[in-house]
Amino acid sequence: MNKTVLITGATRGLGFFLTKKYLEDGATVFAGARDISTPMLEELKLEFPKTLVPITLEVTDSSSVGEAAFNVGKHTAKIDVIINNAAIHNNSSFEILENADIEDCLPVYDVNSLGPLRVVKAFLPLIKKSASAKIINISSESGSISTCRREKEFDYCMSKAALNMGTKLLSNYLKKYNITVLAVHPGWMRTDMGGSNAHLDPYETACQLVALFDGINSTDHPVLIDNNGDSIPW
Ligand SMILES: NC(=O)c1ccc[n+]([C@@H]2O[C@H](COP(=O)([O-])OP(=O)(O)OC[C@H]3O[C@@H](n4cnc5c(N)ncnc54)[C@H](OP(=O)(O)O)[C@@H]3O)[C@@H](O)[C@H]2O)c1
Repeated sequence: MNKTVLITGATRGLGFFLTKKYLEDGATVFAGARDISTPMLEELKLEFPKTLVPITLEVTDSSSVGEAAFNVGKHTAKIDVIINNAAIHNNSSFEILENADIEDCLPVYDVNSLGPLRVVKAFLPLIKKSASAKIINISSESGSISTCRREKEFDYCMSKAALNMGTKLLSNYLKKYNITVLAVHPGWMRTDMGGSNAHLDPYETACQLVALFDGINSTDHPVLIDNNGDSIPW
């Protein structure tokens, strides 16, 4: 059977272009999305009618994630790569502490830190069946505590720091099943989240990341890395 990949947040930005790149490389992609009937996904489906399988997946809802795993299980006996890409970064994040609404942090933490855990938990039986399993959590340099120079963006930065810890815990736990788990900073990309001033094109980034992920085949690889595969300080 060909490579099978699950990607969350596949409607736009990096998630969409990772989906496209894996499809171009011949993989079957389960494209997780809150709304699977977006024009971009539907157009991609016309190009890859057999290998693109859109799957309804809301990462804050354990029932939705469980249902997604059940539906993916109807199509395949194993998943080789899980990419936890879905995330949010609210505009209110850029307020200084005095103006920040702390309650705004909760949904960000729910999506960015807990979403990936829900997905890994639900898809564990499928990923355990792969002979070369990888779980990639798309993180950010903004979750690195030792290099942090920012004074705000509490919600996003703290959510990615928590994601990094979750990734390390999963890496330790899943090593015994030969599953590689990574947290990857993709770089600053021109997406809805990254904005138009960002340095990187998301499709080119997706191509770089897919090559990087394909080349990593050891559970002893450094866990927190950038888009070149270099280690980032925790
Ligand atoms: N862009 C950058 O410069 C940058 C830098 C560092 C790290 N990152 C990370 O890279 C990843 C991709 O970012 P991006 O720039 O491509 O973001 P984006 O353009 O804002 O896209 C975010 C994706 O996440 C999905 N999503 C949001 N909440 C969700 C939920 N509750 N359940 C399921 N899907 C949900 C969105 O779906 P809807 O269409 O349904 O909203 C969308 O598909 C994220 O993890 C981000 O933190 C990005």
